[in-house]
Amino acid sequence: MSAITHRGLGGAAGAVETSPPPALTEVQASGLCDIMLRVSGVRIDAAKRSFLELRVGRRLQATGAADFDAYLAHLRGPSGAAERQNLAEALVTHTTSFFRERAHFDWLAQEGIDQVVASGAGRSWPLTVWSAACSTGAEMWSAAMVLDQAARSRAGGLRWAVVGTDISRRILRRAATAIFTEDEIEGLPETFRRRYLMRSRAGRRPLYRIVPELRAQARLAWANLSEPARGPALTADIAFLRNVLIYFPPSEQPMIAAGVVGRLRPGGYLVTGHAEGLSRVPEGLRQVAPTLYRKEGP
Ligand SMILES: C[S@@+](CC[C@H](N)C(=O)[O-])C[C@H]1O[C@@H](n2cnc3c(N)ncnc32)[C@H](O)[C@@H]1O
Repeated sequence: MSAITHRGLGGAAGAVETSPPPALTEVQASGLCDIMLRVSGVRIDAAKRSFLELRVGRRLQATGAADFDAYLAHLRGPSGAAERQNLAEALVTHTTSFFRERAHFDWLAQEGIDQVVASGAGRSWPLTVWSAACSTGAEMWSAAMVLDQAARSRAGGLRWAVVGTDISRRILRRAATAIFTEDEIEGLPETFRRRYLMRSRAGRRPLYRIVPELRAQARLAWANLSEPARGPALTADIAFLRNVLIYFPPSEQPMIAAGVVGRLRPGGYLVTGHAEGLSRVPEGLRQVAPTLYRKEGP
């Protein structure tokens, strides 16, 4: 299963470079990383100078700033709010794929659904899976496919919904299309492709769109994990918080997780990425497997 990135999918991140970006000094790099930390909570290593030069260099071109000092002055100035968001968009990474870290989807199909159904989900309310840093939506649709399969096979069916949130408005617009390329669906099992994708016949390269039955159960919204109070109203039974905690300083990861847990129903589950064990488990949460946590409840 290969990972994908969406750096070039429109917006300034995809702009054609006409000249190499100017060299970034240590002071400028840490200035940019400080702003990034304040805007998104995400810590970028200021030593990654060529990464910063490339990504922020595109913002220089897009804004017409003469150099990094001029760009920093604009970011720090009274009219810099919109560009601070653009900076955050330019520096986050959207790598994702269908059924990434497959074990989590196996757990969902084999145990997770049963666990939360036992507390009323799926009948009294729609069993809701939240993809809390959804990128293109591959994670959210993977969960949707598992839920739909369960709904078809369970006696009495299953009411379900999926929600995807992300800090990047650009990637959310992309996710809202529910359209994927051949490369992007690489990890998707054949049975799921046949049941849940529509293939477009137009154009030289085939494109695949998620079927309307799944799209009807999905909602996308902007949310910054660092500011849980500002996010959309939502209560989930299972939250996927995967491959995003690593971008936060370790000391802040439990606080980010706690913000997500605050929107879980009692008895609900938090799933983190395989490389993202929490150093401190937030209160009210119990670890049940290396990357799986249960919120206390019935
Ligand atoms: C590497 S992708 C992970 C996608 C998916 N969860 C997965 O595991 O495949 C990280 C995503 O987190 C989003 N992100 C980064 N910082 C965020 C924040 N503070 N709040 C919400 N989303 C954030 C990025 O925009 C990006 O789409």
